[in-house]
Amino acid sequence: MTSPRPHAVAPLRRWRDDFRVLYRYVRPYRWAMAGLVLLMALVGATNAGMTYLIQWVMDTLIIRLDFRRLPTLAGAVLLIYVVRALAMYYSTAVSRTIGARVVHDVRRRLFLHVLEQPALFFRRFPSGQLSSRMTHDGTVLQQGVTEVFTDVVLEGFKALAVAMYIFWLNWRLALVALVAVPLLVVPVAVIGHRLRRVTEQFHGAVGDLTHHFHQVLQGLWVVQAYWGQARERRQFEQKTDGLLRLQRRWVFWNALHAPIVEVCLGVALFGLIAYGAYQIRQGDLTPGGFTSFVAAMLMVYTPLRRLSKLNDLLQQTATAAHRLEQVFLYDLRLPEAPVPVTLPVVRGELRFEGVGFRYPGKSTPALIDVNLSVAAGETVAVIGPSGAGKSTLAQLIPRLMDVTEGAVYLDGHDVRTLRLRELRTHVGWVPQEVFLFEDTVFNNIAYGWPAATEADVVRAARQAHAHEFILQLPEGYRTVIGGETTGLSGGQAQRIALARALVRRPRVLVLDEVTSALDSESEAHILAALAELKGTCTMIIIGHRWSMLRLADRIVVMDKGRVVDEGTHDELLRRCALYRRLWRRQVAVPT
Ligand SMILES: Nc1ncnc2c1ncn2[C@@H]1O[C@H](COP(=O)(O)OP(=O)(O)OP(=O)(O)O)[C@@H](O)[C@H]1O
Ligand SMILES: [Mg+2]
Repeated sequence: MTSPRPHAVAPLRRWRDDFRVLYRYVRPYRWAMAGLVLLMALVGATNAGMTYLIQWVMDTLIIRLDFRRLPTLAGAVLLIYVVRALAMYYSTAVSRTIGARVVHDVRRRLFLHVLEQPALFFRRFPSGQLSSRMTHDGTVLQQGVTEVFTDVVLEGFKALAVAMYIFWLNWRLALVALVAVPLLVVPVAVIGHRLRRVTEQFHGAVGDLTHHFHQVLQGLWVVQAYWGQARERRQFEQKTDGLLRLQRRWVFWNALHAPIVEVCLGVALFGLIAYGAYQIRQGDLTPGGFTSFVAAMLMVYTPLRRLSKLNDLLQQTATAAHRLEQVFLYDLRLPEAPVPVTLPVVRGELRFEGVGFRYPGKSTPALIDVNLSVAAGETVAVIGPSGAGKSTLAQLIPRLMDVTEGAVYLDGHDVRTLRLRELRTHVGWVPQEVFLFEDTVFNNIAYGWPAATEADVVRAARQAHAHEFILQLPEGYRTVIGGETTGLSGGQAQRIALARALVRRPRVLVLDEVTSALDSESEAHILAALAELKGTCTMIIIGHRWSMLRLADRIVVMDKGRVVDEGTHDELLRRCALYRRLWRRQVAVPT
């Protein structure tokens, strides 16, 4: 074991930090807490009152056999217990409520925080990590906050009141009896330090396990198709075994508490009995005083035992609070312009000027000096090899991410100066990977515009060539889709996603590889839909299919983050080697 000295100093500073973090969470309830502290002080006072009564019972009733004041005594006992019962009832109820409210606030805040974060946020905090923080750390925080009050404050007051009483009764004896307290400090600090480290590792490992679990569940069919169960089982077992090891280390350090505390208390009790007996013989102490003293000491020891766990409790609660705080401090939210520009009418003219984008942690930028103008109502196809930056470019238009260089303009306004909500109303984006909520077809489409009427949804579905197949679903627009099993083909899901984008009549429509994984019939449907939409809004179509390129007024070729050329099919075929290559691949391998 390392020297205890540094550990004994460091915890004080850490305690201060821990309390500060915890206080941030309970601050809204500080007045309720102040009331709680008063109630607990009252409970503590009743403890001192009880020990005083014991002395009185011993000396007056038992030794002197003087029964005249018995009714007063009975009344006093009753009063003390009624006050105590009421105070304890309220303090328990209030502390539990505060704990529940704190975790309620935290969960809400966490959800709202995450809700506004761009996709990049989830590289640092994957969904498993966030779920574990929301549920596990939330619960630890709730229990911690409640217990800090019921255990720490209440027991602290009980100990304090009785300690004050015994000092008043016989300070020399009190000093002997309380010798256990300083004896406890060092081992408790050392154990606390160990526990904290294990707790931190444990929390990290739980998040990691949850994340792994989520991932395997999401890709379970891939796991099964490639017979990966044994591999996944090994990995999972490695993680759970690690968790078990950490838990055992925790149990070891945690269990050390009790024996250390007991030994210290035993030493103190021995001192108390020896010195007390000596005082009685000297005539400095009555037997009643001694009995009352021992009773008081036992009353101090119980809270002390629990207080020795304070460190442990604080470690766990503070670790949970710190882990939640980490999520709150990591904020990638896109800033809203202080005085956003409102566009009464949007034409849909787009311009990229010197646009650069670099994903955090990547050495090469995904987009380099992209300059591109798209007239209102124009249809532009963007093609290029995988990794060219097409999807990145598409996400900059509805401002799902912000450029790291240059600017994107809509109708001549930098998109960062527009109100984010409005911008996204005007830009319809159909992502490369379709996502449908586990909800009805109607609600999935209406998600694009919550005020949409039935007629709007049907119009959008017709425009997306989805109306026919939706009517053939068991319950038409009321059929529940999405979730783990969509119950739809890729092309059908794609068309619902298109309808979702169309329901709000966007001025700019950005389609990221909407036909890349489709059979020819689905593709024909989508192409027909897009052909009808052509000219009604500005369209950016990403994809390689020749059928798509034919729709476009102009084709933009991208490679390695740059726009390498743009023009019509014939022009590009003539002068752009990359386009020729991509085109030949299309023709050679018709899909
Ligand atoms: N979330 C991300 N984090 C880090 N790097 C990313 C991320 N998404 C994309 N990239 C990188 O940015 C570059 C451009 O990716 P992008 O997805 O824009 O390409 P793409 O042209 O859409 O490719 P594809 O045709 O395969 O869809 C790639 O090098 C890719 O590795
Ligand atoms: Mg892409």
